[in-house]
Amino acid sequence: MSLISAKQILDDANKKGYAVGAFNVNNMEFLQAVFSAAESEKSPIIIAASEGAMKYAGPKMLYSMVKTLSDDYPQIPAALHLDHGSNLAAVMTAIKAGFTSVMIDASHFPYEENLKMTKQVVGICRPIGVSVEAELGRLQGVEDNVSVAERDAVLVRPDEARDFVSASGIDFLAPAIGTSHGAFKFKGEAKLDMGRLKKVKELTGIPLVLHGASSVPEPASKKFEEFGGNLKGAKGLPFDVLKEAIKNGINKVNTDTDLRISFLAKVRESMATDKSQIDPRKIFGPAKDYVIEVIRERMKVLGSSGRA
Ligand code: G3H
Ligand code: 13P
Ligand code: ZN
Repeated sequence: MSLISAKQILDDANKKGYAVGAFNVNNMEFLQAVFSAAESEKSPIIIAASEGAMKYAGPKMLYSMVKTLSDDYPQIPAALHLDHGSNLAAVMTAIKAGFTSVMIDASHFPYEENLKMTKQVVGICRPIGVSVEAELGRLQGVEDNVSVAERDAVLVRPDEARDFVSASGIDFLAPAIGTSHGAFKFKGEAKLDMGRLKKVKELTGIPLVLHGASSVPEPASKKFEEFGGNLKGAKGLPFDVLKEAIKNGINKVNTDTDLRISFLAKVRESMATDKSQIDPRKIFGPAKDYVIEVIRERMKVLGSSGRA
């Protein structure tokens, strides 16, 4: 199947109430792992590449690998999405390389500036069938005992989300509801503002995106530490909280950290147990297989298994 836009994938997820993983990739091994997991689970996929990924691998190289794999797995609906595009130049680079979806992340600017940049991107993308994601609020946790005004200053405001979506014409929105990027998301209990999420869904009706959604699965993080790594204090989003977020309107679940941890946990294990190994394929091969397992488990949790 040729690559499709993320909107085409997410509209079905929105209608039927499940979520699709957007998996961050930087190299061939991760890409092969995502497609292989998708094939086993019969799941649609969104391949996410950040500006850092474009710099590391090259936008055309990323596109070529994704295109080759999507030709090899014709039954898997797949989109190539720019993650956290920070400006118009990054968006244009991605589109020119063949990406089918972009995120313009101007959420750190004041509302009006965010809206202006987002509208500009929608104006370019809509006529060529490239889907657009934008974000409202900041990706950080908020303590339970803070005032509504303080929460409003960090998290998405549902009334703003309604206005933003109708004024910008975006295809899907990332509302900040208390997650953050990386392996250290919560000091105490993992809590998201489900009330806000529900309200945003009610008022916008479009597919919603959860950034910072990695779960930091225990087997992988244990293995990482068992073989010399340090992830002290790491905490991700438990599967039950993730499922609740999907029930309340999340349709795209961004996942990078879980793949990083699991790949490197296995690399650590292989290197520690086979100290004279000099063939990188003997190290990266098992790491790739381990990432496939982690992605498959996640696809089951998201409800995307069996949807392709
Ligand atoms: O949200 C950010 C993603 O995890 C990508 O991270 O900018 O290090 O490639 P990166
Ligand atoms: P994690 O760091 O939780 O994997 O989040 C990734 C992400 O949001 C990419 O946009
Ligand atoms: Zn993100």
